[in-house]
Amino acid sequence: MHLTSEEERIYNGELGWASQICMRILVKLGDLFGAERLIPIDSAHVSGVSYKTLGNAPTDFLKTLAESGEKTRVESTLNPKSFDPEYLGKRLPEKLLQEQREILRAFEKMGFKQSYTCTPYYLQKVRVGAHLAWAESSAVVYANSVLGAMTNREGGPSALAAAIIGKTPDYGIHKPENRKPNILVEVDPPIKYGIEYSALGIFLGRILKDKIPIIKGLKELTEDKLKQLGAALASTGMTNMFYYENELREKSGIEKVNVGRKEIENTIEQLTTTQVPKPDLVFIGCPHCSLQEIKKIAKIVRGKKIKREIELWICTSRFIREKAADHINELEKCGAKVLTDTCAVVTWTEELGIKTIMTNSAKTAYYAPTLNKADTILAPLEECLKTALEK
Ligand code: F3S
Repeated sequence: MHLTSEEERIYNGELGWASQICMRILVKLGDLFGAERLIPIDSAHVSGVSYKTLGNAPTDFLKTLAESGEKTRVESTLNPKSFDPEYLGKRLPEKLLQEQREILRAFEKMGFKQSYTCTPYYLQKVRVGAHLAWAESSAVVYANSVLGAMTNREGGPSALAAAIIGKTPDYGIHKPENRKPNILVEVDPPIKYGIEYSALGIFLGRILKDKIPIIKGLKELTEDKLKQLGAALASTGMTNMFYYENELREKSGIEKVNVGRKEIENTIEQLTTTQVPKPDLVFIGCPHCSLQEIKKIAKIVRGKKIKREIELWICTSRFIREKAADHINELEKCGAKVLTDTCAVVTWTEELGIKTIMTNSAKTAYYAPTLNKADTILAPLEECLKTALEK
């Protein structure tokens, strides 16, 4: 890799050991993937913030890095942590919360924003054509496919290193030649419901591996549905972007695959692991809810009450919570818990006695059996809410 003289100095440790380590991580990665240079980024987003998913191993490294006084050089945001201050922070064992707080202190000391969301794109304006170093897979697909930005799917350490250096190696999806679609997906009959988009993502992730599809047959498109599709796609495969009908650039000679009703229905069925119709938790907000989604949910639950024996969690970012204050009031009045900073997957639902999770998110339904040791019911938003509400 060619390094500028300033990059060389950092690489050789002239600006301290912390930035040297970060530079070495980036150069190693660049060498591995054949990058010729580092490119400046607009922002970095680090995943693996929750103590539940991160564990103890990296804590010492993070603390030492923070102690060095090294700071982020670009806008740097964090993925959800394992609890919210209002609700789970009062229910989970203090020992777990302490460990989590230590991790957060280290990130904050380095200058990371206390964003704690998997939807950093609601907090910051992302430029079309901007280079980013984001590590949350659902946000990576969204940035590349919906926002027109460019980011590889970073790991926690490489996103952290990119935040400190303010650059990322120029390879993969940063290069225009690697952003070309190479498979046409025809969804027929076309789909229009959120849950179908979500299931399509899971199905395609499995068969596409890392191919970039043009997807035909998406009706009544919204950004929220594309967010669901991308989150699911990234859960089962390595695809980091997709094209959709509105911007269709069909090429002749491109490989084709057909997806029918059966594939969508089977995928939804497979993601439901129990026949018990009564969940302990109904979880909406994977990825974190947009303002639009909060408004929609508030409209459905207005004037109703949540059943005593079921918890309804709506997860979003602090930013959206503030913007949606009136709607949040309505939700809380009916007994819903609007959680910021966390989600059902990255917290300890087992500790809370939650054995069955109902959700409208295929990503959650895919991960919860392993990460939460929970049974799952995947259903449309309206059905999830109906289940949580009193008759
Ligand atoms: Fe976000 Fe949690 Fe889903 S981090 S993408 S809500 S699993």
